[in-house]
Amino acid sequence: MKVENICCIGAGYVGGPTMAVIAQQCPHLMVFVVDQNPERIAAWNSEDLSQLPVYEPGLSELIAATRDKNLFFSTKIDEAIQKAEMIFMAVNTPTKTSGEGKGMAADLTHVENCAHRIAQVATTDKIVVEKSTLPVRTAEKIKEVLATNKVGVSFEVLSNPEFLAEGTAIQDLFKSDRVLVGGDATPTGQDAVAALALIYANWIPKEKILTTNVWSSELSKLASNAMLAQRISSINSLSALCEKTGASIQEVSRAVGLDHRIGDKFLNVSVGFGGSCFQKDVLNLVYLCQTYGLTKVAEYWHQVIKINDYQKNRFAALMDEHLNTHKQPKNISLLGWAFKKNTNDSRESAAIYVAAKLLEEGYSLWVYDPMVKETRIQSDLGLLFESQNKDKEQVKKLLANIRVCASITAALSPANAAGILTEWEEFKAFDWKNFLENSDENYRLFDGRNLINQGISDKIFSIGN
Ligand code: NAD
Ligand code: UGA
Repeated sequence: MKVENICCIGAGYVGGPTMAVIAQQCPHLMVFVVDQNPERIAAWNSEDLSQLPVYEPGLSELIAATRDKNLFFSTKIDEAIQKAEMIFMAVNTPTKTSGEGKGMAADLTHVENCAHRIAQVATTDKIVVEKSTLPVRTAEKIKEVLATNKVGVSFEVLSNPEFLAEGTAIQDLFKSDRVLVGGDATPTGQDAVAALALIYANWIPKEKILTTNVWSSELSKLASNAMLAQRISSINSLSALCEKTGASIQEVSRAVGLDHRIGDKFLNVSVGFGGSCFQKDVLNLVYLCQTYGLTKVAEYWHQVIKINDYQKNRFAALMDEHLNTHKQPKNISLLGWAFKKNTNDSRESAAIYVAAKLLEEGYSLWVYDPMVKETRIQSDLGLLFESQNKDKEQVKKLLANIRVCASITAALSPANAAGILTEWEEFKAFDWKNFLENSDENYRLFDGRNLINQGISDKIFSIGN
């Protein structure tokens, strides 16, 4: 099939940046990004490029170069479906909050809704591409839904998971380690695989475009995220042992990572991994294993999440213990709310859990993050408390003890201890030596990212040291 028009349903962290790169690399294609959320689409269309709904280094330049030339953002979903030969589904697949698999399985409602919509409105043959992260064998369900189309349109379903990381999305998309395209072994399936591979071949070297069967492609995405998360939980678990034994986690991490069979990536200690995907995808893998009766395998992967929860709780408890021991007032500054630097995304950020635990212990918190807005911080906490079945009055009371500040110094001045939760450069560049020299003898900086040189002051507690 000759592809000239592409539609992407879902204008989020994946849909927006991915389609901007395709539009820039493939000026011969018309790319239509559609979403059911009109505010999000309006933000993608805003004149002021600082108002784009996703912050990613290099993204606004790409949008400026392609928007309204061959990249279009709109809410006209049906129109875009009808026009396109290839439709990407890049909608959210959060962990289920009710029903079977609650708290573990991926909620596929949005993907199923997309498939229903495509089935309802398509009048010509389509290649439907799973861009969202999905449990293995989802394509089967999508095919069933698409088969309800009444006009006799034929559909090919491909799996093409996305491996970009937030904060480096544009560079990841330009220089992907690999692009995975899973399709059926039938002649039409292989034609569809070739059509999608041809698009990526505009900028990705051919040897990096892997073609597999659909199930391998779907599972490889979950497996990749699980293995990355597992490395972080491994290093974070060892950070607790370092603190007990006098070993230093940076030294251990460096020594281990220099073994080329292990490698040095994803061995940075932290307060715990966050982000919209690691937890959700590992839980999804655990659920899949349970569904297939693989209890031991499920238990193995579940431990990755349990260690992550342990690390977040442990960090909050370390701060609490210090202030209690030294009979200090319960005032703490938290630096960083985003789940990592260079993004405005705070989904599942460790900061939310650390803050919630401290608020429950009766602390007042002063928070500063260079990119995350106050409303977002309040809603992250509000949603967590609600999910813990706290009533409105309790939530209001807890949230009254958090103040969002406009600078590091504003967040630091009222408190007796500070915690670094996100590795923003701004926190690294701050004059900690001077600040700590002028602080009370019981003051502590709890560095949850090992960002600051510990040697400058004995008032620094560096995680894993
Ligand atoms: P997101 O929440 O930022 O965006 C999803 C968008 O889909 C939203 O704007 C929502 O309004 C829209 N949407 C949902 N249902 C719709 C429907 N029926 N019709 C039209 N629009 C609809 O999500 P995201 O972070 O872009 O993630 C999307 C998928 O990609 C997930 O499966 C995720 O696991 C995966 N993924 C995410 C990342 C990442 O870095 N965020 C990386 C790789 C893979
Ligand atoms: C991750 C994967 O890296 C992507 O390949 C994948 O496409 C994406 O999930 C997804 O499926 O959504 P992302 O979550 O955006 O990307 O960011 P990461 O760089 O992986 O960081 C995730 C979390 O792990 C962050 O909280 C980060 O601070 C933490 N982390 C990362 C560590 O604690 N230590 C490390 O060494 C690396």
